[in-house]
Amino acid sequence: MDKALINKIEKSFQVEFGAKPRLVFSPGRINLIGEHVDYNDGFVFPAAIDKGIVVAIQKAEDSDQKKCNAVAYDYEETFEFGLSELNPLKDGGWRNYLIGIVAELKKISCEISPFNIVFGGNIPAGAGLSSSAALENGIVFGLNEVFELGLSRKQMIQISQNAEHLYVGVQCGIMDQYASMFGKENHFLLLDCRTLESKNFRIDLSNYELILINTNVQHKLSDSTYNKRRALCENVSKLLGKKALRDVSEEELKRLRDDKLTEEDYQKVLFVVEEIERTKDAAEAIRKNDIKVLGNLLFETHDGLSRQYAISCDELDFLVESAIASKHVIGARMMGGGFGGCTINIIDSDHADGFLKDTKRKYHRKFGYDCSPLKIDLSKGTYAIDRQ
Ligand code: GLA
Repeated sequence: MDKALINKIEKSFQVEFGAKPRLVFSPGRINLIGEHVDYNDGFVFPAAIDKGIVVAIQKAEDSDQKKCNAVAYDYEETFEFGLSELNPLKDGGWRNYLIGIVAELKKISCEISPFNIVFGGNIPAGAGLSSSAALENGIVFGLNEVFELGLSRKQMIQISQNAEHLYVGVQCGIMDQYASMFGKENHFLLLDCRTLESKNFRIDLSNYELILINTNVQHKLSDSTYNKRRALCENVSKLLGKKALRDVSEEELKRLRDDKLTEEDYQKVLFVVEEIERTKDAAEAIRKNDIKVLGNLLFETHDGLSRQYAISCDELDFLVESAIASKHVIGARMMGGGFGGCTINIIDSDHADGFLKDTKRKYHRKFGYDCSPLKIDLSKGTYAIDRQ
C-alpha cells in the first residue's frame, strides 16, 4: 500500500472540501496470458497489482451544494457537473468515466445526491495496466459505500464496463474490471469470461521473476482498432451460427477461409481460437509447475498478437525479440490492448539486472528514448482503506 499516495489524496480532499472523505484503493492489472479473448467468452489469466488509483469521496455536507465536484489530482484538473446532465463530453478524458458511472447507476435507480471526489494514482500513464478499470471501479465502489447502494462486486464491474462502452467508447471485455475488483494478493485469477467464475492460482516461479518493461509509447490506433477487432470476431461467430469464438473450432473456421474471409481476417480470428486453447494449456503448465512450457506459451502469444492479430508495434516487438535472444528470459510477450504499453517477461532473477540494463541501452539506441522496467506485486481487488 502506497501510504504517501493515500495521504496525498486524503489531504487534497480535506483542503478542497473541508471534510473527511471515505478512501478507496482500486488496483490496475496485468495479464499473464489470454489476450483479446475476454470479449470472445474465452479464458484469461490476470492479476490485480499494487499500483492503482486512490479515490477520496464524500456526500456534499452542504444542502445548498447542487452539483458534484471532482478533482483529478495528477492532471491538476477539476470538473463540476449536475446529476441531471450526464452526457459524454467530446474529448472528456477522465470526466467521461465519472459521468458514465453515475449515469449507469442512475439507470438502475440508485439514489445519488451531490458528492465530492478527488482521485490520483501511481500507475504509469499509458502503460496498458488498466488505469481505466481502476478508476471506474474506484468510483463505483466509492459511490456504493457513501450512498449505501448495496451493490455486489459483480454488479459494480458491470456498471464499470457499461460506462466504458457507452461513455468512453471502447467496447472492452470484462477482464480488466474483473481483475481490478476481484484480485487476490499474490495470486493470478484464471477467469472464465463466459461464466465469470475464476480460480486463484499461486505461481511458483522458483528462481525466475515477472518483470514488466514499459515501452513508454501508446500509439494512436489502439481504441479504434480494438473496436474493429471485436466487431470482426463477433461477425465471424455470427457467420458460423455460434454465440462466441469460444465455441468455434479451427476446423469450423477453416471452412470460411476460402470464400468468406480474407487471409488477414482468417489469421486474426484463428489467433483468438488458438489463444483460448493456449490459456488452458498455460493453466495446465502452472499446475504441473512447468514454467518453461508456460514461458514458451507467452512467446507464442506474442507471435500471434504481432503477426496474426496485428496489434503490436516496433517497440514491443523489439523488447520481445531481445527477450528471445537472451538465455535468461524464458517467456515474454506484449500485454493488453496493443500498440504500446508493457511487455511481461519471465526472467532469471540472478541475471535480471544485466538483461534489463543491456535491453535499456539497446532500446535507447534504436528508438531515442527509454523503456522502463517495472517490478510489481500482486494485490487484492478494490477495497475501502481503513483509516481507524
Ligand atoms: C484491454 C481491454 C480488455 C482486454 C484486453 C486485451 O485491456 O480493456 O477487456 O480485451 O485489452 O486482452
